[in-house]
Amino acid sequence: MLGFTYYTPTKVAFGKGSVEKVGELMKQFGGTRVLIHYGGQSAVRSGVLDRVKKSLDEAGIFHVELGGVVPNPHLAKVREGIELSKANGVDFLLAVGGGSVIDSCKAIAYGLAEPEHDVWELYAGQRKAKACFPVASVLTIAAAGSEMSNSCVITNTDTEEKRAYDDDLARPKFAIMDPELTMTLPDYQTEAGCADIMMHTMERYFVNSGTMELTDALAEGLLRTVMHNAEVLHTDPRNYDARAEVMWASSLAHNGLTGCGSDGGDWMPHLLEHEMGGMFNVTHGAGLAAVWPSWARYVYKDCLPRFVKYAVNVMGVTPGATDEETALAGIAAMEEFYHRIGMPVNFKELGIDPTDEQMAEMAASCARACGGAKGSAKVLHQSDMEAIYKMLK
Ligand code: NZQ
Ligand code: ZN
Repeated sequence: MLGFTYYTPTKVAFGKGSVEKVGELMKQFGGTRVLIHYGGQSAVRSGVLDRVKKSLDEAGIFHVELGGVVPNPHLAKVREGIELSKANGVDFLLAVGGGSVIDSCKAIAYGLAEPEHDVWELYAGQRKAKACFPVASVLTIAAAGSEMSNSCVITNTDTEEKRAYDDDLARPKFAIMDPELTMTLPDYQTEAGCADIMMHTMERYFVNSGTMELTDALAEGLLRTVMHNAEVLHTDPRNYDARAEVMWASSLAHNGLTGCGSDGGDWMPHLLEHEMGGMFNVTHGAGLAAVWPSWARYVYKDCLPRFVKYAVNVMGVTPGATDEETALAGIAAMEEFYHRIGMPVNFKELGIDPTDEQMAEMAASCARACGGAKGSAKVLHQSDMEAIYKMLK
């Protein structure tokens, strides 16, 4: 195993009615002038936005609001949020939504802390942040894990670049997780969320570095739990316990817990998907499901023991005559699972049809985002990335 730093400073309030604690938590963490940031209409329709405002009012906390964050959140909305926050002396960012809203908040928080710089420079890899305003969330979809992660993903629509910036400065101060809030989600979003949750742990699982028995046991247990409850929710979307299991898994899958003792993970499925999000605006979790089987078949020989372990311990495959056979059976079983929950496993099922030129462009952009090459299961270069995109056709 390798050494590690584990840092999870986010206070979690979990369970039915936890939304009502937002005022009290905001006070506790020193927020006095809050930007409430949200997405399209779901937070308005469900009434959660009103509940948040009421709780802040009762705590005597000033707030302004800015909606309109779209999935794969845009840099332009971040800039709007920075200006609105400056004009109102905002000192705390509160996301009411999912990964897109939380990430938009994190980017606004970076922008406010260093107003002399353009915030996009962080995502373009041109500098590191020195400070960040405090962020918290009321989570309405279990998926991205941004409520506890150090990551933030923003799309620049001018350049069609979707880029991540990772820094512990942006780890949220608190997260409010009421599984009931996720009951209004369309099935596709619930299941795309489950695919994303699993992938955050799978990225950390398929490595060629050292690993830990305890980390593997946590990871495999988390993956089996999400798989089981994803299927429950596919037919019984109002099942509270299944919603709760999945919501807690979303945070644990991406707060670092399932990566302790390894090299930090592979992350190529995510990086390949981010290009698809930037160019075609696909739903993140669905894009990951589409990419994974092709990525896995491209890399498994270079990370065979992990693919065998995954097949047996997570997918319940009976070991075959050879390790290769077992690994491939595990990948096929994963594809069958994706289909059972309505997730795609290739471009066609994802609803996009990139041309050869577009696949070459995505591979080039992905290689730039990776600094040339990346991966732990197998180090991928631009030509590998293009080959994987072609396998998705
Ligand atoms: O905009 P509204 O109307 O709120 O609708 C949203 C949106 O259309 C809807 N939704 C959310 N909660 C709902 C609801 N609809 C009904 N009822 C509810 N309770 O769901 C749709 C998707 O929302 P979004 O926030 O985009 O989902 P998700 O949490 O999957 O976030 C995806 C974004 O996070 C990034 C992704 O790349 C993508 O941009 N990621 C962020 C990470 C991080 N910061 O750590 C890690 C991830 O790997 C990921 O890359
Ligand atoms: Zn993800």
